[in-house]
Amino acid sequence: MKNKTLQLAVASVIAGLSLQAASVNAATAPELKDWPKIKSAISKDAAMEKKIKEIVSSMSLAQKVGQMTQAEIKFVTPEEVKQYYLGSVLNGGGSWPKMNKYATAADWLALSTAYYDASMSTDMKTKVPVVWGIDAIHGNSNVVGATLFPHNIGLGAAHNPQLISKIAVEVGRAVRATGINWVFAPTVAVGKDARWGRAYESFSEDGKQVRDYAGLYVKGLQGKFKDDANVIATAKHFIGDGGTDAGVDRGVNKSSLNEMINSQALGYYSAFEAGAQTVMASYNSWHDPVSGINYGKMHGSKALLTDALKDKMGFDGFVISDWDGIAEVAGCANDSCPQAINAGVDMIMVPDNWKNFIKNTIAQVEGGQIPLARIDDAVSRILRVKLRAGMFTTKPGDSKYAGKQDAMQAKALAREAVRESLVLLKNNQSVLPLARDKKVLVVGKSADSLINQNGGWSITWQGTENKESDYHGDTLLTGFREALGASNVQFSPTAEGVDVSKFDAVIAVIGETPYAEGFGDIPAAQTLRHSQRHPEDLAVLKAVSGKGKPVVTVFVAGRALYTNDLMNLSDAFVAAWLPGTEGKGVADVLFKDAKGKVAHDFKGRLSFSWPNAACLSGPIAKMEANHPEKLFGLGYGLSYAMKAASANALSALPLDNRNSCADESRMAINTAKDSTHFPMRATIATRQFTLGRELSDKEMGGAIGVTSKTLANGLPARVVTWNGPAKIEATAPFATMVPQGVLNNGVLQFVAEVHKAPQGKVTVTMDCGENCAASVDVTKLMQGMLNGPARTIKLPLACFTAKGFDPKKIKSGFAMSTTAAFSASLAEIELVAGKAKDPDAVACSDLN
Ligand code: BGC
Ligand code: BGC
Repeated sequence: MKNKTLQLAVASVIAGLSLQAASVNAATAPELKDWPKIKSAISKDAAMEKKIKEIVSSMSLAQKVGQMTQAEIKFVTPEEVKQYYLGSVLNGGGSWPKMNKYATAADWLALSTAYYDASMSTDMKTKVPVVWGIDAIHGNSNVVGATLFPHNIGLGAAHNPQLISKIAVEVGRAVRATGINWVFAPTVAVGKDARWGRAYESFSEDGKQVRDYAGLYVKGLQGKFKDDANVIATAKHFIGDGGTDAGVDRGVNKSSLNEMINSQALGYYSAFEAGAQTVMASYNSWHDPVSGINYGKMHGSKALLTDALKDKMGFDGFVISDWDGIAEVAGCANDSCPQAINAGVDMIMVPDNWKNFIKNTIAQVEGGQIPLARIDDAVSRILRVKLRAGMFTTKPGDSKYAGKQDAMQAKALAREAVRESLVLLKNNQSVLPLARDKKVLVVGKSADSLINQNGGWSITWQGTENKESDYHGDTLLTGFREALGASNVQFSPTAEGVDVSKFDAVIAVIGETPYAEGFGDIPAAQTLRHSQRHPEDLAVLKAVSGKGKPVVTVFVAGRALYTNDLMNLSDAFVAAWLPGTEGKGVADVLFKDAKGKVAHDFKGRLSFSWPNAACLSGPIAKMEANHPEKLFGLGYGLSYAMKAASANALSALPLDNRNSCADESRMAINTAKDSTHFPMRATIATRQFTLGRELSDKEMGGAIGVTSKTLANGLPARVVTWNGPAKIEATAPFATMVPQGVLNNGVLQFVAEVHKAPQGKVTVTMDCGENCAASVDVTKLMQGMLNGPARTIKLPLACFTAKGFDPKKIKSGFAMSTTAAFSASLAEIELVAGKAKDPDAVACSDLN
């Protein structure tokens, strides 16, 4: 009875929220033509605004810029927080108090208290408490001992907004246990492409579902800032992170305004209605093909951060930049970016370079590059959020959860979330559910792997540097053993040498290994076929299938991938996503209970379309239900209750064995058409600037200047003038792959026109990460072109691979360095197959 009342209460809160949201959030909302005005649950308070004004007017410029600065805990001491008036600290993924991975809630609280005390002992007239931000993105996921929930993609499959609300409350509690007040969640990205390495951070490819979750997530985290579990939420990453071309992390979003405001932005509307107090800017850029407007990198876009977000939508909290995100803006370095502040970034995440950043920013305000009014606005926003969150009146230790290790535990709820997230994609002959009195062979690398079931953003950033014992949780195998009795379960990761006929059934737990951000991008030079990257999973299924015993495959992965080959070898196939620490939730659904009844049916339904091809001809989210490249659409998922489940047995699926989805004949490095995957950067001594089309040498530390021009053949080119030693480089944030075909007599090709002869040595480098670069000397070549017409240079890739360049992990496809003055126009840098033998190709022997 009591339970029922509680459920009703929760339901009415949720109903209330969506009612209030009627204007832009109703299912029937008319298509928006522009960014909507959002009414936030937290409105401005006159007395608070007066107080903010008073505080701001009492602050020095150094104090204001300090407030706007967020440093990383590895690089900042409490004493420095005091000395520089820092407004915020963060811990990056895999960063812990004293770099002790096993720091307890009490250790975290101690450090948080130290920062807080330092911030409250400055010489400011009104002391302003420092706020600590953390990536608690599936539980308090940096902290050993915290319960980790399924990643967002699994929560999306659960299609249960109430559950989201409850999880968010638990996340808040776990974060307050560590003395922290601010989380960089929820991610409200609408993931449009499974190739994106952050696909699992998205709830759904359907913006409406993201909208239905985002508001409740924020509400669960923030509450009314009255409860000891409440924390400040962040809607991120603004905007279009999930919609980039080919799913490239930090890439270019080529959506129309209509698509953006009616689909990809929907999560923000409900998040703001619920009162989300901060927004994180996104690394991506946006180029709207319909209007032709190129907004550039989001960190530098006033049109979005100020005009759309703050003015039109009425967001009155603050915008935080992403990790070194300001450096993505043309003309900026990670310690200097007036453009971003002028565009509307209020607090700047400058993990390590924060001292220079403060110095540079103060100089830029004094020099008139940043108006003081902009600084005052930014500081006012930061103070407003801190005041609203009650930070001026409570210390980190005041929460009743502070320092409590067990406040980070929410095992039952996480296990429930796991159960609800599972999607049954195939269940021929109703193989599932399995009875408890069966002998089961468990195979596959992920059956007994907390590492694989937690994925990225788990204790560390990539999730790859952990030991199994670092996690406090249960593997899927533990759940199987508990359900069947240990003696009924045999585990063999590879199935090697095991006699399958001795068992009643096989459960194979296979899938992806951890990754985060761009490290998880699937390059165009590969495909969506899971077994291409993980042949061991295909091998293990081959070892157990066709032996007369049913094979149940549980696929643990951060996205919907092409798995036809794996499905054909399985009688049942379950998408388990990245379930987190509570792996027992899987057994809860796969097995009948002790009385032989179904205790938990499958409730999960796809929130991402499942591909039927290794390469897709366009965005799968936009394909009709019966499109041949789509195997299952949104909402698909079988259940035991559906009688049709066994009748509709899935027959053998077509196999697509392509190995690459790319044009095998070329790869753009930095061309007029494609300059975002490998943006151009200039390195001068140790500072790196992002190159725009026009930048004076003064803007870039003196050594380099850039202008633009159109070559005789109509190509847009950059005119680069070196005054001294410096390097320009087309460099990707994360390594990618060259299509195999390009290696076939391939060249690094670019168009050059030389305006000033090299006064020193000029080299061209291809880079594949640490200790993996190869350079050739082009000084003579450049000398010979002085004042001549633009020429297409073809440098055989073999000249680079012979010197150790590895085309499987290309980081920078083109760098040109000089030791002294030099000037040239450069355009259309790409890798092209089949040209190394052309008569005009340069011979390696000529590159001394
Ligand atoms: C990510 C953000 C994250 C931040 C802080 C960035 O690399 O894009 O999502 O909040 O780092 O760790
Ligand atoms: C940090 C992450 C951050 C990333 C950005 C890593 O070193 O640990 O938190 O998101 O860098 O590149």
